[in-house]
Amino acid sequence: MAKVITSLKELDFSLTDLDPMPVPQKVMVVKPTFFSIDYVINPHMEGHVGDVDKIAAQNEWSHLKGAYEELGLYVEAVGGLRGYPDMVFCANQSLPYIDKEGNKKVIMSVMHAEQRKGEVAHIQKVYEQSSYEIVHLDESKFTDFEGMGDAIWHFKKALLWGGYGFRTSKEVYEVISDTFEVPVIILELIDDKFYHLDTCFCVLNETTVMIYPPAFTEEGLALINALFPNVIEAMKYEAEQLFACNATCPDGKNVFIQQGCTDMNQKLRGAGFKVHEFSTNEYLKSGGSVFCMKMMLW
Ligand code: ARG
Repeated sequence: MAKVITSLKELDFSLTDLDPMPVPQKVMVVKPTFFSIDYVINPHMEGHVGDVDKIAAQNEWSHLKGAYEELGLYVEAVGGLRGYPDMVFCANQSLPYIDKEGNKKVIMSVMHAEQRKGEVAHIQKVYEQSSYEIVHLDESKFTDFEGMGDAIWHFKKALLWGGYGFRTSKEVYEVISDTFEVPVIILELIDDKFYHLDTCFCVLNETTVMIYPPAFTEEGLALINALFPNVIEAMKYEAEQLFACNATCPDGKNVFIQQGCTDMNQKLRGAGFKVHEFSTNEYLKSGGSVFCMKMMLW
């Protein structure tokens, strides 16, 4: 069912029409040994160059890693690389997929930021060791695609949500849709503080999403509301300062989120989710939090 949906009038399916997709049971994380802020490529990094507390960063990362293990997920901790301080945000270098027969494919990213381009080959090695078919975009045509930072799977469904505007270009979703033979609903991002889709959109289960509405266009919001019966909205402070929407819900029930999102936590509990708070304070300075510090794999 390959197609790219850009507006409500093109939406010709409902959730029940989509192929099922298994829930990933593996989590890849990248050790924060070389994590630091050496340059500014998003508004959150401004004023933070050289400002990472390495010990705090290590502790925050270890705590999060342990929580995935406690949830029963298999965690693969990959070594970092000197000179790539953002590699710890391993949602960005790839987009993995599994089809109905269990065949695994991955599309490797073409990082928008020059400073991060070298991360992709390092992450590719992980896929080479786990029997994924590796697909590269034609870099003469597509210059921007930042993996699961912008392309997010619907929970348990072969449907991709694709953000574009800052780190990923719109055109790339035609190729992704054809490669995986899945529909892609694309959403334009309009506020540079929410430069990746995972900063303002978090799929919690089949029917529930958490979003920060001002990061989207009217058309985008209409598409989100058309497919998710339950849309939980983040407030400005928690979305912007605490990255509330950069949370993760690996099993459709337990939500891992930056600590202090009081309003969101109340809404999540009210909707039946179990909330687990983590400090990702060192990573917030770089414009990332829980969601982008990992990659879910099959
Ligand atoms: N400093 C990193 C960058 O700007 C942060 C990436 C966070 N990743 C994410 N998917 N939101 O590229």
